[in-house]
Amino acid sequence: MTSELQDKDGTLERLPIDVVIMAAGKGTRMKSRLPKVLQPLGGRPLLHHVLDTARALQARQAVVITGHGAMEVEAACSMDTRAESPLTISFVRQEPQLGTGHAVQQAVPALADDGVVVILSGDVPLTRPATLFHLITACAGEKLALLTLQMPDPAGYGRIVRAGTGVDGEVLAIVEHKDATPEQQAITEIYSGIMAVPAAQLKRWLARLDNSNAQGEYYLTDVVKFAVADGVPVVAHRIDDAVQVTGVNSPLQLAQLERAYQLQQAHRLMDEGVRLADPARFDVRGDLLCARDVSIDVNCVFQGQVNLGEGVSIGANCVIANAVIGAGTVIHPFTHIDGENLGVTVGAGALIGPFARLRPGAHLGAEVHIGNFVEVKNSTLAKGAKANHLAYLGDATVGERVNYGAGSITANYDGANKHRTVIEDDVHVGSNCVLVAPITLGAGGTVGGGSTVTKNTPAGALTVARGKQVSIPNWSRPKKLPKA
Ligand code: UD1
Ligand code: CA
Repeated sequence: MTSELQDKDGTLERLPIDVVIMAAGKGTRMKSRLPKVLQPLGGRPLLHHVLDTARALQARQAVVITGHGAMEVEAACSMDTRAESPLTISFVRQEPQLGTGHAVQQAVPALADDGVVVILSGDVPLTRPATLFHLITACAGEKLALLTLQMPDPAGYGRIVRAGTGVDGEVLAIVEHKDATPEQQAITEIYSGIMAVPAAQLKRWLARLDNSNAQGEYYLTDVVKFAVADGVPVVAHRIDDAVQVTGVNSPLQLAQLERAYQLQQAHRLMDEGVRLADPARFDVRGDLLCARDVSIDVNCVFQGQVNLGEGVSIGANCVIANAVIGAGTVIHPFTHIDGENLGVTVGAGALIGPFARLRPGAHLGAEVHIGNFVEVKNSTLAKGAKANHLAYLGDATVGERVNYGAGSITANYDGANKHRTVIEDDVHVGSNCVLVAPITLGAGGTVGGGSTVTKNTPAGALTVARGKQVSIPNWSRPKKLPKA
């Protein structure tokens, strides 16, 4: 809620932080129906990342300025299920969009005079909170603090104009690219789009903006010249990590930021001891929690909430969503696990795949084996159960040590309703069986290969439900008739 600053007497001064997020722009170059700030990065809208930043700053509130796709953007803000701590979010509409200064003008009624305003953009997702704390400290509740960046190719950006020729001269103005003289265009220090400014001052300066410039827009960046005129110090906090201030304007930039974001996650996990075969071929679109000695081969994608237990090994090309995988389990290549709403759990020491598919509500006990081309949906398999090849288990309860043969399926759907199949402990289901649910196979029983089982089977019995094999001795095949 507050920033802590030592004032001259050494006492703590607590300043509330109000974050303003500009999110009204159209994002024409995305060529998408989805508003730009809702395009996903790491599986979540860009704007959610910016709201996370506001949370990390412990902001008193975030004021989101919406315009293009306003209804959709506003609705999306309240749907952030992964938000860990609450944040007071309010919205103001900017219609039409007359520039960044005009955007922030719309937020004025939502801003109390006692705070520091931190201005962010909804399409700049990877700013580190530590950087913003620096900026807020530089503002110190009384200065205008700008986040700036040295850029070899500054075309398009606002330039930081300083007194004298050095890089540390007093900041005099931000001049937009289109308004800059050739000398100013040669300046390589640019304004990132992010500032921290005392609210009361900001309001006074916003009231003085005009649009007499090359683009006919109300430039937020003009507040710098008003600060200079009012004798308010303007300070620049210069960083060299462009990713933190890079915005998304095109699909290419979105993909580049996605790689940067994924690399950050890969590095963080590797710092925690996770072994990634290649940090450049690894994607987490959600939260991945790993215990010790987890190894992950190339081209794996993790979505939603995924927990990997100690010593879990994930083969190449797996997609795993909303699942909890027990210690020591091996997931072989090309396995697809998606727990969606019901989740998937896999016990310790299981072997899954290659080419396995675990769907919502698959709950597997310890040491279960699920082999190639086996699909499991809404079923529990107890310890040591095995389905090793080409099989389907849907809406089934499978006991311990059950062996489920190749090509067997639960016929769980009668065209109108789904029914359960219960396979008790130690049952052996042969190959190519159809278990027509609802049905229970008694403990320790055996079902002969090729059976279509429609009635419950007794414990311990051999059940065969198929045409009896007959052989006709000395059978002579029909002969071809002579031509007429
Ligand atoms: C702005 C800065 C420029 C800086 C650059 C950094 C101004 C005048 N210029 O440039 O100095 O180098 O950011 O990226 O501020 N938006 C609205 N309403 C509007 C206009 C924009 O909400 O009327 C939003 C956009 O959706 C975007 C953000 O403000 O999220 C920045 O707008 P953008 O057009 O990208 O900024 P520039 O003018 O290019
Ligand atoms: Ca821009």
